[in-house]
Amino acid sequence: MFSFPERIWALALVVCAAGVQAQSPTYAGIGRAATPAELAAWDIDVRPDFKGLPKGSGTVAAGMEVWEGKCASCHGIFGESNEVFSPLTGGNTKEDVASGRVARLNDRAFPGRTTMMKLSQISTLWDYINRAMPWNAPKSLKADEVYAVTAYLLNLGGVLPDNFVLSDQTMAQAQAMLPNRNGMTTEHALWPGPEFGNLKPDVRATACMKNCPVDTKVASSLPDFARNAHGNLAEQNRLVGAQRGADTTRPAAAAGSVPAAAAVPAPAKPVAVAAAAAPAPAATGAGPAIALAQKNACVACHGMDNKIIGPGFREIARKYAGRADAVDYLTGKIRAGGSGVWGAIPMPPQGLPAADARTIAQWLAQGAGK
Ligand code: HEC
Ligand code: HEC
Repeated sequence: MFSFPERIWALALVVCAAGVQAQSPTYAGIGRAATPAELAAWDIDVRPDFKGLPKGSGTVAAGMEVWEGKCASCHGIFGESNEVFSPLTGGNTKEDVASGRVARLNDRAFPGRTTMMKLSQISTLWDYINRAMPWNAPKSLKADEVYAVTAYLLNLGGVLPDNFVLSDQTMAQAQAMLPNRNGMTTEHALWPGPEFGNLKPDVRATACMKNCPVDTKVASSLPDFARNAHGNLAEQNRLVGAQRGADTTRPAAAAGSVPAAAAVPAPAKPVAVAAAAAPAPAATGAGPAIALAQKNACVACHGMDNKIIGPGFREIARKYAGRADAVDYLTGKIRAGGSGVWGAIPMPPQGLPAADARTIAQWLAQGAGK
């Protein structure tokens, strides 16, 4: 057994040893070297020479299963994505597979440019699916599933035969059949460097030197009928990231306001309207609770009275008006999030301190007054 001071010493030594071992020698005392596991988690890129490609394989048939289970809901059964998302397949021909250059890319009359038409490196397709798809669950596919679904997409696009098995061994073979494999150019020089001969970028604008217009003029805008054509964009966000769709069930914000303001639903301001109706409520803490709801961006999803993405705060208050444990229940729900009480759209967990969640819950349980 260690005596008390000895134990402290032993602990200190262990901590020091760990610190020394993990610290970067260049910047002593700052950060630590990444562990091999951390590096492996980041290092997932697959390059055109197939460096980084993991071992594995998948058949066209297995890819169909993945496609129909995890991709078709957004991209369409045949990859045509003819509703909301841009189409992945279509537009290339047998001749393109032979020439390696998609002829229709030069045909201005041909509508649309699909992924299959533009793709010049199969590694890009593999890597993109592996890191970013399915959109709602990125990085959830196993390597074999990525091989399979990549094979299936290329089969849908008329590139790979039905019996093709795509693997780390056959990627080069598939690359040699891509319809637009010879379509890549660096002549635009958007990435100029000595390896491309120090070309100049292909922009040919001349700077305006006098009587230059200072105000921008809006030349075109989305017609009103198209605004809500695909349902309310505010309800179509994925749960990671900061994107917010505009609430397209309402007219666009008045001309002159910046688009970003339209994208984030403004906190509801029913103050003046509700003032006459509501007698001074006995509720305490409305001010701090409302401030917390604003500070924590709850108001991006909850209106005071109206539903935005989640229910209006007063709708919530009414629902739980008679419930004895409302404060505890709502405190828990605010922090944990959840779905199914008001509809299918989930509320993500909210990282605010428990005491702040409770202040809001108390305000809700007291009727969400002002
Ligand atoms: C929830 C909807 C959704 C699902 C499910 C989904 N995708 Fe996507 N996919 C998208 C969106 C949105 C984009 C465009 C993303 C962007 O540009 O940032 C996209 C882009 C792509 C692209 C790139 C297209 C291009 O030319 O840039 C490929 C390839 C793709 N998805 C394949 C798949 C595969 C394979 C699956 C199934 C494993 C899948 N997607 C599942 C929504 C989805
Ligand atoms: C990304 C949108 C979003 C944000 C941000 C958000 N909520 Fe929600 N909230 C929802 C949705 C959607 C529901 C409905 C969930 C359901 O049907 O179960 C909901 C439900 C609730 C409920 C009712 C839960 C129940 O079981 O009836 C409360 C209370 C609530 N939110 C409070 C908050 C508070 C407080 C914040 C800020 C700290 C917040 N929400 C932030 C979307 C959001």
